[in-house]
Amino acid sequence: MEEPRWFAALVSVLDCRSVPDMSKSPDAPRISLRPERVSDLQVLTGGDSRFDDFGSRPPRTHISTPNYAGSGALVIVDENDEVCGYVSWHWNHWGPTPESHCPMLGIWLRESWRGRGVGRLAQRRVAEILFEQTTTNRVEAHTDVENVPEWRALEAAGFTREGIIRGAHWRPDGYHDGYLYSILRGDLSPDIRDQRCSAARGPDSSA
Ligand SMILES: CC(C)(COP(=O)(O)OP(=O)(O)OC[C@H]1O[C@@H](n2cnc3c(N)ncnc32)[C@H](O)[C@@H]1OP(=O)(O)O)[C@@H](O)C(=O)NCCC(=O)NCCS
Repeated sequence: MEEPRWFAALVSVLDCRSVPDMSKSPDAPRISLRPERVSDLQVLTGGDSRFDDFGSRPPRTHISTPNYAGSGALVIVDENDEVCGYVSWHWNHWGPTPESHCPMLGIWLRESWRGRGVGRLAQRRVAEILFEQTTTNRVEAHTDVENVPEWRALEAAGFTREGIIRGAHWRPDGYHDGYLYSILRGDLSPDIRDQRCSAARGPDSSA
């Protein structure tokens, strides 16, 4: 399935300059996010890290579409369209009104792509896309208290640690505590926050 032209334009404007401390890792690969294709499913297996082990899962038979109103996912690719991993989101409800709902991120990178700065770029970029595509005030992420690479990637991407969420994360060895992180719309620099990319208006945009 080919992604629409407006989507490619949107991800291309969200480049590395918007990530706070990219200067720390000038050699980080250039990555972009695109919708999943069926051919990606064979490498997007997940489950090989203890922080991503939710027990045995049947092989995936369907791609996830980037549904901004519900659960969705995007594939992280390098300049040659090699698949690095995926970012996903589902909506968490902090209150009954839509204004109190916000996307919570998930991420998994193939082992060979870990520790190279991809996690921070991808999570910053998907947060920016969610701020562009929805009215949410907040994008959040939750990670195990022992998942140091994920803390560091989130903090480098501009997320703030808010506290411990006790016993929320179930994996086959039991319940685990995690840290809750967030980035607010107001945390983005004004040029990103106020960006009204013509591409984001959708496939009918004449711009
Ligand atoms: C967690 C994950 C997304 C992070 O992405 P990444 O691209 O590997 O992370 P980055 O390279 O952007 O940053 C990792 C940072 O953690 C550091 N780090 C890595 N392993 C570490 C360890 N064991 N102890 C301390 N720091 C560590 C790196 O040095 C780097 O630090 P820096 O910011 O000072 O350079 C990725 O490793 C992954 O997919 N892991 C398996 C699945 C997973 O855990 N998903 C998250 C579930 S919530």
